[in-house]
Amino acid sequence: MKRQRPGQPAPGPGPRGWSGWGRGASTYVQAPDEWRATTVQACGLWPFAAGAGTPMTGVPLGRNLLSGATLCCDPISWFQRANLISNPSAFVLGKPGLGKSTVVRRMALGLAGYGVLPMVLGDLKPDYVDLVESIGGQVIRLGRGRGHLNVLDPGEATAAAARLTGDARAQVLADAHGRRHAIVSALVTVMRGAPPTDREETVLDRALKVLDDTHDAARRGAPTLHHLLEVLRAAPEDVRAAALDRGDRSRYDEVTEDLEATLIGLTGGGRLGRIFAEPTTTPMLRDRPVVFDVSSIDDAQSDLQAAVLLACWSAGFGAISVAHALADAGLEPRRHHFVVLDELWRALRAGRGMVDRVDALTRLNRQRGVGMAMVSHTMSDLLALPTEEDRMKARGFVERSGMVICGGLPAAEMPMLTSAVPMTRAEQDLLVGWQDPPAWNPGTGTEAEPPGRGRFLVKVGGRPGIPVHVALTGVERQLNDTNKLWHELSRSADDPAFPSTGSTADGPVRG
Ligand SMILES: Nc1ncnc2c1ncn2[C@@H]1O[C@H](COP(=O)(O)OP(=O)(O)OP(=O)(O)O)[C@@H](O)[C@H]1O
Ligand SMILES: [Mg+2]
Repeated sequence: MKRQRPGQPAPGPGPRGWSGWGRGASTYVQAPDEWRATTVQACGLWPFAAGAGTPMTGVPLGRNLLSGATLCCDPISWFQRANLISNPSAFVLGKPGLGKSTVVRRMALGLAGYGVLPMVLGDLKPDYVDLVESIGGQVIRLGRGRGHLNVLDPGEATAAAARLTGDARAQVLADAHGRRHAIVSALVTVMRGAPPTDREETVLDRALKVLDDTHDAARRGAPTLHHLLEVLRAAPEDVRAAALDRGDRSRYDEVTEDLEATLIGLTGGGRLGRIFAEPTTTPMLRDRPVVFDVSSIDDAQSDLQAAVLLACWSAGFGAISVAHALADAGLEPRRHHFVVLDELWRALRAGRGMVDRVDALTRLNRQRGVGMAMVSHTMSDLLALPTEEDRMKARGFVERSGMVICGGLPAAEMPMLTSAVPMTRAEQDLLVGWQDPPAWNPGTGTEAEPPGRGRFLVKVGGRPGIPVHVALTGVERQLNDTNKLWHELSRSADDPAFPSTGSTADGPVRG
């Protein structure tokens, strides 16, 4: 083959056309314009049309950062309609303030439009209250002196069981029992920082059964932790057998002493207040979006926050379970729910064995029709748990999620993250770049927007991630305003209709 000598013209055109004098090579190639259109409109432009490559099923989330194409994505649609994921759940990870709750809120709003009921089981900020209120949902306020959630209240399970027969009835009752047992064990775990012993678990289980059999709910209302404590102290035969007291009352007292002390703490206004031991103030409705507003609980009370989150999950999942049983029996229309578990790490950190409790409380017999979004900060939050067993299980939450949505994360996270979700080098670099601090604008003396705000990588199994930017609509921006109090303050300072207290000679202005 003849080799081309230097200076000799190339045998064919180069990437920018024929090179050489009078041959028309272009030094600057303009990018062609691109338009997006539906296949119905764009089909006539064959062969210039190219598929977008991002799924168009689900809630419109934002634009693909690489192609500009719209990305539609939510766990329920991707599971049910698009068959893209193996179970309808999403795990959202990212550094604080980059918009994790905002993206979940977008999904909740979009899904509400599809007829799915958003259920926010514990809003600590509050991030979701305005949204749920604006779509006509129910806001349940919990906190010291604000509202109680009786963890032993079977809710609508008893009423539902009365409408059911046979196996379905037995299943609803068993599920309600299991859930109440799980939440009492979880509260004991939070109180002690360690799980109850096996024997205590059995004692609790029996005591709850005895309480159900002997408590006259029609006359005394739903049983509370006070009643459970009464049963434990009364030492009925069944409970004594579970405590293995071998007929010796003093041995029984010895075995149940710790449990009694913990229950006294839960009912007597100890560290966890009496939120869980008094009759429920606002019963939850099954046919409307719901948010539990627990924002009145201070971040410093981390135990109480964890306990309240657990109680909300128990109540929420219990209600969903009842709704499913009734729908299965054809007694109610089938409803789909989108459950939001924000700030998951707060609950996991509350003590040894917490991961198991969370697992037990958020388990449903049938995942059908229930989408879930779990939100946490980083993998190291999940992996900072005291025992290896807990750490493995916490990693399992991420591994088992249908999709993982990652925002900006520090480089130190990557080995942990990639052990749960496979990521290429380029994907990892993208996430690390998004957590960079915002630029400082010396002109205005303010910070620019953080580079990673609203930017997420949607990962499904080993597939390449889809980078997306979530842009807020005007309506969302109002609903989203987490700095509302500050804005109100600055508005009132500017507005003559709201003179500041100090500026009037007549003292404070009211009304
Ligand atoms: N896509 C976006 N465009 C513009 N602003 C956004 C966007 N996403 C979030 N924000 C704003 O950023 C702030 C923090 O958002 P958000 O509360 O959703 O973050 P987060 O990741 O959930 O934080 P945390 O980890 O503290 O809960 C809010 O004021 C919100 O309005
Ligand atoms: Mg948040």
